Amino acid sequence: MTNPLPRPMIIDTDGGVDDALAIVMALNSEHIDLKAITVLAGNIDVHQAAKNVLRVIDIVGPEQSPLVAKGCTKPLVNPPFYAAGIHGSDGLGELDQFKNADGSPRYPALTTEAATEDAVEVLLKAAKAYGNDLTIVALGPLTNLAMALEKDRPTLQKVGRIVIMGGAVKVPGNISAAAEFNFFVDPHAAQVVMESGIPLTLVGLDVAMQAPLARKDVEAYAQQNPSNVSQFIVDCTGIYMAFYRENEGFHGCYLHDPLAVGVAINSSLVTTEPVYMVVETEGRFTSGMSLADLRDRRDEATFPPNVDACLGVDTERFLKLFYDLIQP
Ligand code: RIB
Ligand code: CA
Repeated sequence: MTNPLPRPMIIDTDGGVDDALAIVMALNSEHIDLKAITVLAGNIDVHQAAKNVLRVIDIVGPEQSPLVAKGCTKPLVNPPFYAAGIHGSDGLGELDQFKNADGSPRYPALTTEAATEDAVEVLLKAAKAYGNDLTIVALGPLTNLAMALEKDRPTLQKVGRIVIMGGAVKVPGNISAAAEFNFFVDPHAAQVVMESGIPLTLVGLDVAMQAPLARKDVEAYAQQNPSNVSQFIVDCTGIYMAFYRENEGFHGCYLHDPLAVGVAINSSLVTTEPVYMVVETEGRFTSGMSLADLRDRRDEATFPPNVDACLGVDTERFLKLFYDLIQP
């Protein structure tokens, strides 16, 4: 059910295109009290990711702008692995290419900057301040969260829930046959969070791939609802949607991160199953794979469920929420 009052929330993001759409939703939702947006390396480097978050805030123009704090510049163990080929060289569809009718940049240089506070500190301070009321929505690799656990485990364990866009239970990976991108980039961090004991909801590819957004629908929406936000959505999704057209024959994209925000707002959008999940960190072919124990004879006494894994989604209701929340 949808929470009646605005709930304290932090979004942890790697600053890509679907992250941006998710942040638009969160900024516009009356059910979310967005305390901060913490940023890390993933789709793009952490500095560009922070600029992208600031860009979204500038375009949406919320009454209260959330604090934006930079965190980890690279995964716990593995080298950085970016997705510029998918999200564009700036991580946001290469916005510099777009001009106004008078030739001026449609997206001029920003005057806002990220806070000097470190993202891991921001996460721990919020856990201390809001405790069980706080929901963290993780839209990128889990490096910031793993670092917060390594720095002050008992404090981060105070949070109510972490809704994670990541992993896959019964479907293949996306960045490899075995792994979803966020878990592939930092499998060590993902496993640290799996072992955290914090209530986790996994919004994996099983449901994200059932949340498509077609190019023609985005363009029709912007035509019928002209605004800075709808123009931004058309602009920033161009390269991302072309990637899916060329690689999957679908001119559109999947709303991975927006679905995670949707689930944080209204958990009835999905059906979940509690499972015991681990993330492979060493596999030559399977690094980043999320492995859920689905056996009938699973030994839950020894391996108790650690994740509520989303296996079904009400796509129609989610897409209605998405369109409601991108509306200025
Ligand atoms: O696998 C999809 C996830 O990886 C999304 O969060 C996308 O933004 C990328 O970070
Ligand atoms: Ca992301």
